[in-house]
Amino acid sequence: MADAPSMDVVVSLCKRRGFVFQSSEIYGGIGGFWDYGPLGVELKNNIKQAWWRATVQERDDVVGLDASIIMNPRVWQASGHVDTFADPMVDCKSCKRRFRADELVEHKHEAESVHGQAVDIAGVPCPDCGGELTEPRMFNLMFKTYVGPVEDSASVAYLRPETAQGIFVNFDNVLTTSRRKLPFGIAQIGKAFRNEITPGNFIFRDREFEQMEIEYFVLPGTDEEWHERWIQERFNWWTGLGVRKEKLRIREHTEDELSHYAKRTVDIEFDFPFAGFAEIEGIANRTDFDLGRHAEHAGRELKYFDEESDQHIVPYVIEPSMGVDRCFLTVLIDSYAEEEVRGEKRTLLRLHKELAPIKVAVLPLSRNEKLVPTARRVWDLLRPRFMTQYDDAQSIGRRYRRQDEIGTPLCVTVDFDTLDDEAVTIRERDSMEQVRVPIEGLVEALREKLGGA
Ligand code: GAP
Repeated sequence: MADAPSMDVVVSLCKRRGFVFQSSEIYGGIGGFWDYGPLGVELKNNIKQAWWRATVQERDDVVGLDASIIMNPRVWQASGHVDTFADPMVDCKSCKRRFRADELVEHKHEAESVHGQAVDIAGVPCPDCGGELTEPRMFNLMFKTYVGPVEDSASVAYLRPETAQGIFVNFDNVLTTSRRKLPFGIAQIGKAFRNEITPGNFIFRDREFEQMEIEYFVLPGTDEEWHERWIQERFNWWTGLGVRKEKLRIREHTEDELSHYAKRTVDIEFDFPFAGFAEIEGIANRTDFDLGRHAEHAGRELKYFDEESDQHIVPYVIEPSMGVDRCFLTVLIDSYAEEEVRGEKRTLLRLHKELAPIKVAVLPLSRNEKLVPTARRVWDLLRPRFMTQYDDAQSIGRRYRRQDEIGTPLCVTVDFDTLDDEAVTIRERDSMEQVRVPIEGLVEALREKLGGA
């Protein structure tokens, strides 16, 4: 089994098999935007469902929310995003390419070793053409738009750069309507937008992406303990989905890395082939920063009445925040494998059954007209119960390989014996083991093998 596929291999599989396409490809694409194809949308939905089940359905202390993408722009003034959600940017005076100044640190170190003395960022040459770079300028990452027919400064609004603020501004609504007691959380899945200076590494850094965020409100003083608990909880979620432990690590943010709102943040990182360990989820202690700021800016109390202390208090917040697209990339890379089977190479995605886009493929041994009605009948039986695919093109061996490559855990083969014994063969993706079962008990047998996925 290959340890880690190259990005070229993953990108090409995604395109070839309909997981991910470049957005507006026929017009040459657009940097930082991607479309999810028929298999991609299934995998993405399965990721979201797995997260929602673990965070909302199976817990008794978290409820869901679906807030709007565009909010009153004052939200982003209060949150600090208008003033501080910016990256330093430099331009090359020769080739006009644009870079994030903080990402040029690596090149700065190289330049220092060449010159034998410290150089500032502006002394670093363009990594592409060696040309001179401008001084760094701060560039706000929020996308702007106008609400209503008049395009003036009074109608400026922003596409949300994180889903979190939709939760904070609804804190009071949720608290009163769901009659919650601390600690409790609000979870949300939704699109976020950032005008990244250097989007890249396929779907790792996008300008439009999806986040899954929990804001977990706790009594001040219990925040550090809850932070620890959530770090463990979230790490276990990733390994529970089959991501190998040795490919994950937990990394503490250094003081100068911390966001303006955070007291402490740790990242869960995955070992990507293009970058080494990089963030897939952040778990931050946001203290009472956001509720405090919104209370101040909106002129509304955002407090909780604590019966124990008989006081109104502003809760602290622990925030586990992850990106769906990065999770998608993580599980694809981590599950990718190549094996030799009887002298032939097979590529497979050992995806967790819950995540696999197609759960069962129905494969008639051939297109022989005697087999087709029975194979169709089997497909009709399974389709309402599992995400299935029917494939009758080319040899059975090739069809098994095609299903392996998209991570389908089970194939059901209808052959000529089926016409006599009303039984079919179930073939498993990972072990390639085959068992014969009667059509009558097929649904149960598949359910058992899929383990509820
Ligand atoms: N509310 C906190 C927050 O947004 P963040 O670390 O900026 O924190 C959280 O983002 C997660 O969102 C990241 O761990 C990553 O998975 C995902 N994410 C952030 N920016 C992204 C981008 N440009 N493209 C894809 N995913 C992104």
